[in-house]
Amino acid sequence: MQNKSSFLAVAVLLTSLSIQSGTMNQTVTVHDKTFAVSIPHAKIEERIKTLGQQITHDYKNAEKPPIFIGVLRGAFMFLSDLVKAVDLAYEIDFIQVSSYEDKTTSSGVITLLKALKRDITDRDIIIVEDIVDSGLSIAYIRDMLQTSNPRSIRIASLLDKKLSTLDFPIDYVGFEIAPEFVIGYGLDYDQLGRNLKDIYTLAE
Ligand code: IMP
Ligand code: MG
Repeated sequence: MQNKSSFLAVAVLLTSLSIQSGTMNQTVTVHDKTFAVSIPHAKIEERIKTLGQQITHDYKNAEKPPIFIGVLRGAFMFLSDLVKAVDLAYEIDFIQVSSYEDKTTSSGVITLLKALKRDITDRDIIIVEDIVDSGLSIAYIRDMLQTSNPRSIRIASLLDKKLSTLDFPIDYVGFEIAPEFVIGYGLDYDQLGRNLKDIYTLAE
């Protein structure tokens, strides 16, 4: 088990190194699947800069510093770059929910794994997600946070597959993408691939 994961980690590292050197097609193999670059890092950076400017503009007159709430683990990289692009005072906290995709919970029931540390009552909060797929997770998180009576809730998601029929908006969307499985820039395939700088989609 240990050997297998070490081997996979090395395989991912070597492949991503060869991507940077530009000597290979921009593909990476993670576990049993091959992925191709779909959104290069430069495009992600550029888009996040714009989102950061929008958020700065939208909250510049806020009474209290807004609180960014990152959804672990997928959103860690997006959150880190997004907040650097925001020119305001703000706080940061994290939340984690179980992902029904983890095969261990096939029921579709989402549970809270890590609660907030901050009291968000009467505060402006911005939930930061990696991706909205079915929308189940973000709807659960939003409903749960709503019970603490924040002053306002907005949502930033790097990616949106546009499959969900939510009765609230995703206020800051990085990219709308096709409903395909993606990895990189925080997103994983069975826990690997989160460290990739670009976003990759499953290659045929
Ligand atoms: P939803 O509840 O179906 O909207 O899915 C949300 C969560 O599932 C995201 O926060 C991700 O952690 C995970 N997820 C959904 N689609 C993908 C994908 O294409 N790649 C990796 N993780 C995904
Ligand atoms: Mg997630």
